[in-house]
Amino acid sequence: MPVISICSPKGGVGKTTLASNLSYIFSQSGTKVMAVDMDPQNALRLYFGVSLADEGGFIASLDSQAPWLNSALNVGRNLYVLPFGKSTYEMRRNLDQIFINEPDYLKTSQSAIFNAPDLLVIIDFPPGYSEALKAAACITDLYVIPLNADAASVSLLSQIKDGDLFENGESANKYCIVLNQVDNRVKINREIQDFARSNFQDKLAGTVHLDTSVTEAAALQVPISGFNPSSAAAFDIGMLARRLGTMLGFTVNEDTMIISQGQD
Ligand SMILES: Nc1ncnc2c1ncn2[C@@H]1O[C@H](COP(=O)(O)OP(=O)(O)O)[C@@H](O)[C@H]1O
Ligand SMILES: [Mg+2]
Repeated sequence: MPVISICSPKGGVGKTTLASNLSYIFSQSGTKVMAVDMDPQNALRLYFGVSLADEGGFIASLDSQAPWLNSALNVGRNLYVLPFGKSTYEMRRNLDQIFINEPDYLKTSQSAIFNAPDLLVIIDFPPGYSEALKAAACITDLYVIPLNADAASVSLLSQIKDGDLFENGESANKYCIVLNQVDNRVKINREIQDFARSNFQDKLAGTVHLDTSVTEAAALQVPISGFNPSSAAAFDIGMLARRLGTMLGFTVNEDTMIISQGQD
């Protein structure tokens, strides 16, 4: 099953929002999904209702060499989250060192997650360039890059087009862009959407409207489609899920989001 890596040069652009909500939508469609948090901020778990006091995660298992899978939590039907966990500087440095020393670590040592036949994996990354993002090159089928539709994103769009976010050329071809927090009342927002459409064409996988339901759902630790299914953001992210499914070779039922055929 595919691995989707959600990454961006910038923070605050909706990576964790998309990682959690896409995971939820795909799991609802009958696919077994593991949402993996690679961001030391350790916030992804909160989007699935895990308590703030629960600070466990895979980072604590590195010394014992226990499989990361042991740290995953079942947070719904077909839905699992693997928290990063509370970490110290030493623990994060240790993880980076593993990624540097063993470029295939995720594929080989953590194959139960990242090379599993029946599991869709969605990884939430910290902003910018990280050893984790580099290490995920050997397992990633599709990079999803959210950016806000603001002026700061224009230069970043050009960098992404040049493949600057990735170390190797192969990865540079496997990405798509999502414009987030779009507000069509704002002229610069409309202009950036036009710019992205003409420059990225089918690599622009979707746009998500600026919508207070997103922040309200996050505060309640529930998915947007559960909190307000008729909201613009729920509609947009549903559309995005369908589009990503198509890009990855899924056949997605328009009404029920049933994925009838996966890809290895
Ligand atoms: N489409 C949206 N409309 C309104 N607020 C949003 C939207 N997308 C994200 N946000 C808010 O923006 C903030 C940053 O989102 P987040 O997913 O944490 O970004 P990242 O993981 O890239 O740092 C959060 O408060 C989130 O609720
Ligand atoms: Mg985040």
